[in-house]
Amino acid sequence: MAHRRVQFQLGVVLAFALARGFVAAAQTADQAWLPQHHGYLRTEIPYAVRALGPGLLERSAAQELFRGIEDLTAASSYLGDSNLNGQTIVGTAREVRTAFPKLEIPNDLGPDEYWFKQTQYKGRALLVVAGGDERGAIYGVFSLLRSVYLSETLLYAGHRERPAMPIRWVDEWDNPDGIVERGYAGRSIFFEGGNVRNDLAPVSEYARLLASVGINGVNVNNVNAAPQLLDADHIRQLARIADAMRPWGVRLALSVDVASPQKIGGLATYDPLDPSVRAWWTAKANEIFALIPDFAGFTVKADSEGQPGPASYGRTPADAANTLAAALEPHGGVVLYRAFVYNHHLDWRDPKADRARAAYDIFHPLDGKFAANVVVQIKEGPIDFQAEEPVSPLFAGLEKTNAAMELQITQEYTGQQRHLVYLAPMWKEVLDFDLRAEGRSTPVKEIIAGSSFKRTLGGMVGVASVGRDGWLGSPLALANLYAFGRLAWDPNLSPETIATEWTRQTVSTDPEVVGTVVKMLMQSWPAYVNYTGPLGMQTLTDITGSHYGPNIEASENNGWGQWHRADHLGVGMDRTVATGTGFVGQYPPDVARIYESLATTPDDLLTFFHHVPYTYKLHDGKTVIQYIYDSHYEGAEQAAELGREWATLEGKIDQKLYQDMHGRLVYQAGHAVVWRDAIVQYFLKLSGIPDEMGRAGHYPGRLEAEDAKLTGYKIIDVTPWEDASGGKAVACAEKSCTAEWTWHGPAGRFNIAVQYFDLQGGVAKFTLDINGHPAATWTADATLPSRRPNGDNSTRYTVHNLDLKHGDLLRIEGTPDCPDQAALDYIEVTPVPPQS
Ligand code: GCU
Repeated sequence: MAHRRVQFQLGVVLAFALARGFVAAAQTADQAWLPQHHGYLRTEIPYAVRALGPGLLERSAAQELFRGIEDLTAASSYLGDSNLNGQTIVGTAREVRTAFPKLEIPNDLGPDEYWFKQTQYKGRALLVVAGGDERGAIYGVFSLLRSVYLSETLLYAGHRERPAMPIRWVDEWDNPDGIVERGYAGRSIFFEGGNVRNDLAPVSEYARLLASVGINGVNVNNVNAAPQLLDADHIRQLARIADAMRPWGVRLALSVDVASPQKIGGLATYDPLDPSVRAWWTAKANEIFALIPDFAGFTVKADSEGQPGPASYGRTPADAANTLAAALEPHGGVVLYRAFVYNHHLDWRDPKADRARAAYDIFHPLDGKFAANVVVQIKEGPIDFQAEEPVSPLFAGLEKTNAAMELQITQEYTGQQRHLVYLAPMWKEVLDFDLRAEGRSTPVKEIIAGSSFKRTLGGMVGVASVGRDGWLGSPLALANLYAFGRLAWDPNLSPETIATEWTRQTVSTDPEVVGTVVKMLMQSWPAYVNYTGPLGMQTLTDITGSHYGPNIEASENNGWGQWHRADHLGVGMDRTVATGTGFVGQYPPDVARIYESLATTPDDLLTFFHHVPYTYKLHDGKTVIQYIYDSHYEGAEQAAELGREWATLEGKIDQKLYQDMHGRLVYQAGHAVVWRDAIVQYFLKLSGIPDEMGRAGHYPGRLEAEDAKLTGYKIIDVTPWEDASGGKAVACAEKSCTAEWTWHGPAGRFNIAVQYFDLQGGVAKFTLDINGHPAATWTADATLPSRRPNGDNSTRYTVHNLDLKHGDLLRIEGTPDCPDQAALDYIEVTPVPPQS
């Protein structure tokens, strides 16, 4: 075979290639979107890969390139003969110029920038990947491989790219005990039992994955920071994480508790202006940089949700940020100070109180007071990662301060990775939103890139909260991590382009498959908004608890300020300047004008800015209440459609992937019905206005558990009431219980959906039988929030194609497994359409 004849110029490359089989079972970056032995491409890339410089990063770049070529071709026998004589070189622009003085290469490549081109040099093929620095060389290699894989014709034409913004970080909200806050993919890859894990192989793989999309920093610990991570022993441990990520140009950052000087430093104060506190931080920074010379910096959550902060001493966020910044500055570190500062003890009876105002009210007056190495990290919206929010006005309120945008890759409020929700379309709306600061065009993407206000620092931070279970748990959720990196690199990319790239690299190159997956991804966010909280109501979830299932009143009558103010006449927060909280006035005038007026506020943000009667007519003439009904039915239908689309892929994609996503999408369709019914029945009761389409409150074929002949099962009230059909369910405190209905409908073929509550802890068992003959048995073994029956764990199991006739006995037997009481909401009998 031809490839045997290839001269390997990098011993390490060969060794690495041989080791691959060995690590196959571990959690690897290849399980995400990096090519995995696709091996169908004939590439013209010369196999002789060489790094020009001795640096660690260049070595990774060369290794990756070799590995990529091997993957793309499966080390196939095809090699253009001329390529056997050619070479592929990777290095910084300066090294390339020295090694190939006659080669024309750009002379102005900046940090992280790259250029690649396949050309001829002295009659032999030469592929050059040149970086403005070593990190640029790594990005160039990944980009080159991607473009070859995606059959882009960049190789010979030459291609050059630089990132739109310098800060492209992910944040991991990992606690030292190994639990990941708002993580939905298992335990931490970084920590366990209070310490850094021994096995950091997944961390290296994660860094490789991140580097492949241009991410250059990882903050590894929860923003609700554990102060002990700054003690000497833990810094030594953290240095191992930095070592594991360094070969990929990914720098370590840490979240810090501003009270650390007191909590672990033994000082009597943590007042940021106290000289002893400043000295403590300086010494701490020196200690960190001595072990981690490329340490990226600190992230700070202070005076927020119970975290201590400068307010305790009457100091400002700028005081605290600048103290930390002064300590990091000599070493080149930065402070990412979060603008997520608000009072969670607001008075909900005060019509002027408004959490949305907090970030701007606190940070705008400090504009210009932050040190040059401070970046204010602003959540994309003024509340908190909701399914839909307006853009934070603070982006336009800091002209003399560096700004970064924080968004969530982990789907805290958007289905927790159990629901497919591709978030790039939402992020893209935010990035493209033109805030019109100073009356000129200032899209968010240009503000955070630094160009709008001529700032040198800025960027994007995505809260990823990955874990040991396939990084993000759900295979398709990885499209969000990929999209985050791609958008931080180039916010002008379209969500469809990114989805297509991701799908072709990860799922299949078959155009039909790609078309289906991309369509599903693009439909998923609008669907989720439809069945959760449309018209700017935010996610109508349990905001003081799980942030998962429906719980409409959880937002109200508490100090957390995620209010929607639904009452029997109308819904929405009046945030106008004229009659409301004045939040609208925080936007630059061109934007404020739009939101201040009901007539010009876009429907999808209507109730975020205005309190309107249910009878208020949207731009297309539909009333608000009818929209609430329609969008929820439409959303649940869209969720079901996602499952049907995926079903068309069976046999065309990897069977394991197919099965995994199939189960998730079936679950999602069922949970979308839970959401739909909860919100629809809640607003029907509250408003008293019927659904013009006659659906709300009418459920053909639904047989309630509380109406069944019950043996052992007892009727219970579900809280919140809207999470169960009719507010009631049945639960079993015996060894086993039954609920029995007589079928009074016509004879025919039916599907029977069983709606039950799959409680946390315990695996209850259910059996459906018809006239005493078992039709299906299943277990309630999903991992869902809450030990009480509610919308977090209401789950649907459907038994298909059952023949029924008038008078048949339908019986569910539930066998509890403490604390899971095999609670049951209803069964729903639907005719199978004739063609299926
Ligand atoms: C959300 C989230 C918290 C997190 C907080 C933050 O409120 O639920 O877990 O700590 O955001 O961003 O600080």
